Amino acid sequence: MQIFENHFLKDLNTFGISVYAREYTRLSFENEARQLLDHPAFKMGRHFVLGGGSNILFTDDYDGLVVHIDLKGKDVVRETGEKVFLKVQAGENWDDLVDYCVGKGWGGLENLSLIPGQAGSSPIQNIGAYGVELKEHFHSLEAIHKKNKTFVTFSKEACSFGYRDSFFKNSGHDEYIILSVTFVLDKEPKIRKHYGALAAELIDHGIDKPDIADVRDAVCRIRRRKLPDPLVLGNAGSFFKNPVVPYTTYSRLKKEHPDLVAYPDEAGFKLAAGWLIDRAGWKGFREGDAGVHEHQALVLVNHGDASGKDLLKLASAIQQDVIEKYDVKLQAEVNII
Ligand code: FAD
Ligand code: EPU
Repeated sequence: MQIFENHFLKDLNTFGISVYAREYTRLSFENEARQLLDHPAFKMGRHFVLGGGSNILFTDDYDGLVVHIDLKGKDVVRETGEKVFLKVQAGENWDDLVDYCVGKGWGGLENLSLIPGQAGSSPIQNIGAYGVELKEHFHSLEAIHKKNKTFVTFSKEACSFGYRDSFFKNSGHDEYIILSVTFVLDKEPKIRKHYGALAAELIDHGIDKPDIADVRDAVCRIRRRKLPDPLVLGNAGSFFKNPVVPYTTYSRLKKEHPDLVAYPDEAGFKLAAGWLIDRAGWKGFREGDAGVHEHQALVLVNHGDASGKDLLKLASAIQQDVIEKYDVKLQAEVNII
C-alpha cells in the first residue's frame, strides 16, 4: 500500500475544488482492506473514503488520509429464469455499469443512466432519477467495519433506504467502507417511463414501445441538456434535497404561489427545491466563481477558481433566503467536508 503525501484533489472532485490531502492512498484489492485499517496513517488521524467525488464539497485542505476506492470487477453470482444477481466491486464506474447491463439486456438501472460516481457509493444516498431509485434493484452489499475490522453483509432492509437517504447517512455514517454491491436485474425488463420528462422525450422521438436502450438514450439526452458536465463546469448535481413537507405547509404555499411545483409523497409533499430557488431569483446568480446554474437552480457551480468556502457561503445565503421567502428549510444533499 503506497501512501502519497500532499496529494492534489482538484481532478478527484467534480466541483473541481483545488485542495490537497495530507496523505492519499488507493484501495485496489479487497484483501488489502484489513492492512489499510491497521496502517498508522489510517488509525492515528482523520481519514476520508473517496469514490468518484461527485457528491462532496471540500471546504479546506484535508488534514488526514484520503482513501480512494479503486476496487474493480463484476460477477454474476446467481441466476434464475427471471433474474440476474450481479456483484459489482465498489470502485466500478456507475454509468459504465449501467451501460454494461443495458448491453446485456438486463433491466433495472437504465433510468439511472449518466449519474456520475462509483457503484460502491450508490447505496449511500440511494441514488435516484427519472422515476427509479437504486433500492428497487439493490440486493445486498459487503462492507468492512472500520473499527472492529469485521466484514459485514447488509441486506436491503438493513440499509433502511429512503429518499436520498440510508443507514450509511445516519447511524452507519463513517463506520464502514463499502467493498461491493450486489444488484438484482430483470432478464425481461419492465419499462418505467412514467416520469413526465422521460415520457415526453420518448414521444418527441416517436418511440412508442421503448426498450431499455431507448430509455437509457432518452435519459442521457435529457441529462445532457439540463445538467452541466463536470468536466466543463464544476458541480455536484443537486446541491440540496427536494424538501418533503406536511400537507399544511404545502397548502399554504400553494395558496400563496399557485404555480408551485410539488408532488405527493409517502410522507407529505415533495417540493421542487429548484423551483423555490429559481423563484427566489437565484438562477444564474454568480459571485466571483461561485454560482447557480443558469438552467437548473438546484445545481451550484464552480466557474473556475471558487473555493469550497465560497460555495458554502452561497449555499447558506440561498438557504436563508428560502426560509425568509417560503419558511422552508433546505437540507444539503452534497456532503460537506
Ligand atoms: P463521493 O462523492 O466520492 O462520496 C460521497 C459520500 O460517500 C462521501 O461521504 C464518501 O465518503 C462516501 N463514500 C464513497 N464511496 C464509499 C465507499 N466505498 N464506502 C463508504 N463510503 C463511501 N445523484 C442522484 O441520486 N441522482 C442524480 O440524478 C444525480 N445526478 C448528478 C449529476 C451530476 C452532474 C453530478 C455531478 C452528481 C449527481 N448526483 C446524482 C450525485 C452523485 O453522482 C451521487 O450521489 C453518487 O452516488 C456519488 O458517488 P461518488 O462515487 O462520486 O461518491
Ligand atoms: N424547476 C424550476 N426551476 C429550476 C429547476 C427546476 O422551476 O431552475 C422546477 C421545474 O418545474 C421542474 C421541477 O422543478 O419541472 C423539477 O426539476 P427537475 O425535473 O430538473 O428535477 P429536480 O427535482 O430538480 C431531481 C433530482 C435529480 C434527478 C432529477 C430527475 C433531487 C434533489 N434531485 O431534480 O438528482 O436527476 O430529479 O429525476 O432529488 C442529484 O441528486 O444530484 C440529482 C441531479
